[in-house]
Amino acid sequence: MKVELREAKPSDAECIHELIKELCTYEKVSLSEVQTTPEDLINDGLKNNGAFKCLLAEVSTDPLVEDKNDEAGNDATEKRVVGYALYYFGYSTWKGKLMYLEDLYVKREYRGNGIGTGLFKRLGEIALDTKCCRIAFVCLDWNEPSKEFYTRIGADEQPEWRLFQFTNERIKSFISQ
Ligand SMILES: CC(C)(COP(=O)(O)OP(=O)(O)OC[C@H]1O[C@@H](n2cnc3c(N)ncnc32)[C@H](O)[C@@H]1OP(=O)(O)O)[C@@H](O)C(=O)NCCC(=O)NCCS
Repeated sequence: MKVELREAKPSDAECIHELIKELCTYEKVSLSEVQTTPEDLINDGLKNNGAFKCLLAEVSTDPLVEDKNDEAGNDATEKRVVGYALYYFGYSTWKGKLMYLEDLYVKREYRGNGIGTGLFKRLGEIALDTKCCRIAFVCLDWNEPSKEFYTRIGADEQPEWRLFQFTNERIKSFISQ
């Protein structure tokens, strides 16, 4: 299977949004939690210098049509985005710039073909090129296949660190006290 990796464009917003919802379902979370819209993805990240970047994995939808030209002589190969890695940059006061991987997802029927590894390798190249000290990400405790995947590619779990969040509602109530 021929897989190409490329940076996402504003026109990919709908497709990325669908994959974000698929990942949400995979993570057993209600889709009502996905409050971002494709327009938000465009305005917040996919336009130049936004808050995030996104790598896409694209395959030919049908190997039989690969490399075929249509009647006008144009490339008629159909492409399908089957995975994505959405990331942004953060900063460690100890080590400097870091990459934070927000989402990594490959559609179920395409898993186990090296696409996730390929996306991660490209992220690694970007992290090194941009002088990041590490790639950080979180993984749900029950998600054994992904924990296995991360361990296999060489990532370390950090069991001594716990994730805390302060939602807007709690912030509002806290600052109004
Ligand atoms: C985790 C994930 C991105 C890996 O992508 P992938 O394209 O299946 O990864 P690869 O094909 O490069 O797999 C590498 C190895 O992990 C194994 N693997 C890990 N998770 C797997 C899964 N869910 N299904 C199939 N194989 C999996 C593969 O067998 C493969 O082993 P091999 O190298 O011996 O062939 C993908 O399984 C996925 O999207 N899972 C659901 C969403 C998810 O959990 N995302 C991460 C949230 S923290």
